[in-house]
Amino acid sequence: MMKNSSGIKKIAINTGGGDAPGLNAVIKAATVAALNRGWEVVGIRDGYNGIFLPENYPNGDGLMNLTYEVVEDITPLGGTILGTTNRGNPMRYPMKDTKGNIVEIDRTDEIVAGFRREKIDALLAIGGDGSLSMANVFVQKGIRVVGIPKTIDNDLDETVITFGFDTARAFATESIDRLHTTARSHRRVMIVEVMGRNAGWIALEAGIPSSADVILLPEIPYDINIVADHLNKHFAKGRKHAIVVVAEGAFPAGGDISVIEREAGKMERLGGAAERLANSLKNLIENEIRTVNLGHLLRGGSPTAFDRLLSLRFGAAAIRALEEGENGIMIALDPPNVRYVPLETISGKTKNVPLDADTMITARDLGICFGN
Ligand code: F6P
Repeated sequence: MMKNSSGIKKIAINTGGGDAPGLNAVIKAATVAALNRGWEVVGIRDGYNGIFLPENYPNGDGLMNLTYEVVEDITPLGGTILGTTNRGNPMRYPMKDTKGNIVEIDRTDEIVAGFRREKIDALLAIGGDGSLSMANVFVQKGIRVVGIPKTIDNDLDETVITFGFDTARAFATESIDRLHTTARSHRRVMIVEVMGRNAGWIALEAGIPSSADVILLPEIPYDINIVADHLNKHFAKGRKHAIVVVAEGAFPAGGDISVIEREAGKMERLGGAAERLANSLKNLIENEIRTVNLGHLLRGGSPTAFDRLLSLRFGAAAIRALEEGENGIMIALDPPNVRYVPLETISGKTKNVPLDADTMITARDLGICFGN
């Protein structure tokens, strides 16, 4: 047992936003490192719901006791044993007013009261931009918080990479590899949609190693005529098939992102970027087109060794940070080490693909078209 000089007796861990492979590895490392310091560890179920809406859980218990036994075998598991949500943001919680209209209410004080009620000394918040911005609100309200960056989209600022991205990139690459053979057999253009709402990291870093011919990113509004021209020249050279990778957040110049659902208190649901592209292309090229949306497959499965190691490092580092008395920071990867970044500096910022990055230049050298 290590010496406990931090004054911490009990911590809570929560996972918020879309799940990502590696969440359970973070939970494991943080739990073991905290238990080894003599701290009690609880997990909050379903984002903050377990502490915010305990009445929704059997016996009013929205917390999970995290022990060595509970976390023993979870490193290779996808998803999160705690559950998560990207709906019902407590900062803008949708409720009906007296006239029956939906209004958004800030209910974060109720969560703060929950932390006090449960005698939680510190929170480990694992999430993306939205969850970490909310974690920063709790810091302002007197809760001690350390954040850990998570998203398969890899669009969080200040960290070289987020966990979950490597697994998504590897799966997308393998999936696109498989599409080459069927596309070639039928002389088709296969359009593959991947997640990437604000940033095109998955599209770019899976599209290049899987030999895509066109990659469309949210960072570069595309011109459909340039895409069609590129494909027509490609087939004129005798090529039999083509692969187009499109990030869900990519959009045509002068157009908008493709949204399938908008609702109060909820993040916009994106989707349909591949279908829209196929419709715009069908009269401009000869070859048949098919679309595939890899969607949530990219969020599933067992984390790669890279993501497991990164997640375990993040989880252990967060406990060391709390022990050192840190508060209001996020653990960031800064190879070969991790560093602490103030939560307030990352809120609302997106890490986009830099258009002058070597990876982009490499893609252009390989003849890949970005639609501009
Ligand atoms: O985790 C981020 C993300 O994967 C985005 O790329 C995507 O737009 C979003 O989650 C989808 O979330 P869900 O369908 O689970 O609400």
